[in-house]
Amino acid sequence: MTDEDNLDADADLGFAPAVVDNAGRTAPTRTASRRPSGFRRRAASLAVLIGALTAVGGGYAMLAPTSGADDTAATSQDVEAGRQLYNTSCITCHGANLEGVTGRGPTLVGTGSADVYFQVSTGRMPAPVQGALELRKVPKYTEQQILQLGAFVQSQGGGPQVPPADADLRAGSDQLGDGGELFRLNCASCHGATAHGAPLSAGKIAPDLYRSTDRQLYTAMLVGPENMPVFSNNQITPEQKKAIIAYVQTMKEAKDPGGAGLGRIGPVAEGLVIWTAGLGVLMVSILWIGARL
Ligand code: HEC
Ligand code: HEC
Repeated sequence: MTDEDNLDADADLGFAPAVVDNAGRTAPTRTASRRPSGFRRRAASLAVLIGALTAVGGGYAMLAPTSGADDTAATSQDVEAGRQLYNTSCITCHGANLEGVTGRGPTLVGTGSADVYFQVSTGRMPAPVQGALELRKVPKYTEQQILQLGAFVQSQGGGPQVPPADADLRAGSDQLGDGGELFRLNCASCHGATAHGAPLSAGKIAPDLYRSTDRQLYTAMLVGPENMPVFSNNQITPEQKKAIIAYVQTMKEAKDPGGAGLGRIGPVAEGLVIWTAGLGVLMVSILWIGARL
């Protein structure tokens, strides 16, 4: 159906007397038989229009990428299960209404399910003791429980949402170049050019990214834990985030081309390391012997 047809059909719908006439009559069949050609033509184009609209609508619903907001809308059971988990292991530090507890933990209002996912799936939360540096640990909860916790926190205060469970968060290999560039631009200054991690000032560290899953990388960018900046979807679009993830994961999976990895400190031969370390040992022994004499 062309646009012109559409317009015709629209005009018919809006102004055609047959439709208006018909509304007041009790026997539409009589109307049809009285004015067969005009009514039928209009009825036919109306049917075609409705058919086309239905087809387009249905097709769109089937093909359209599901919107994140709808997809992550959790069921009330999830929220309830999350509330119970929260009351068991988070409430002491984050408060009964997520308002935070002075000296124990910050408010979680507005942190959203993305932050909960990041913190709990990397084992940082629940924090073991207050004041300890929150580092990556084995997560205490299953993926499902983490999503339930997130659903509860989300339901209370909103905030950035964790991407839906079935979302593919890794771009194709054609995006690796872009991903690498974005990584060097936005992440390498803290995490190192090969994502091996690096110390920051004031005793903080930017950890290596070798153990991070796609979803953890994605949520880390969304929420910016601790010293890390938030990379909102305006700064780095979801597509760019996926390119970065593809780059990090590919780099991680790439095998070292022979010999030991040496923490990927760059093009340094093992011989040089042995030589430098060996020299150090030699010097220490010389000093030690010297001191004894
Ligand atoms: C022993 C206290 C303690 C417990 C228990 C605890 N947290 Fe935390 N939580 C903290 C502290 C302290 C911080 C701030 C840490 C930081 O900034 O590195 C924090 C930070 C967070 C953040 C990030 C908040 C932000 O503003 O970025 C989230 C999300 C979070 N916790 C979720 C949880 C969840 C979910 C649980 C339960 C499974 C939990 N926490 C249990 C103490 C705790
Ligand atoms: C200003 C420094 C800084 C920049 C820039 C930065 N990060 Fe981070 N990142 C950190 C710090 C610090 C942490 C540790 C946070 C914590 O432990 O709570 C971290 C943690 C992470 C983690 C969690 C790792 C783990 O152990 O689970 C991921 C994933 C991550 N960053 C990805 C990225 C990506 C991707 C980028 C670029 C888009 C980026 N970061 C840019 C400082 C930075």
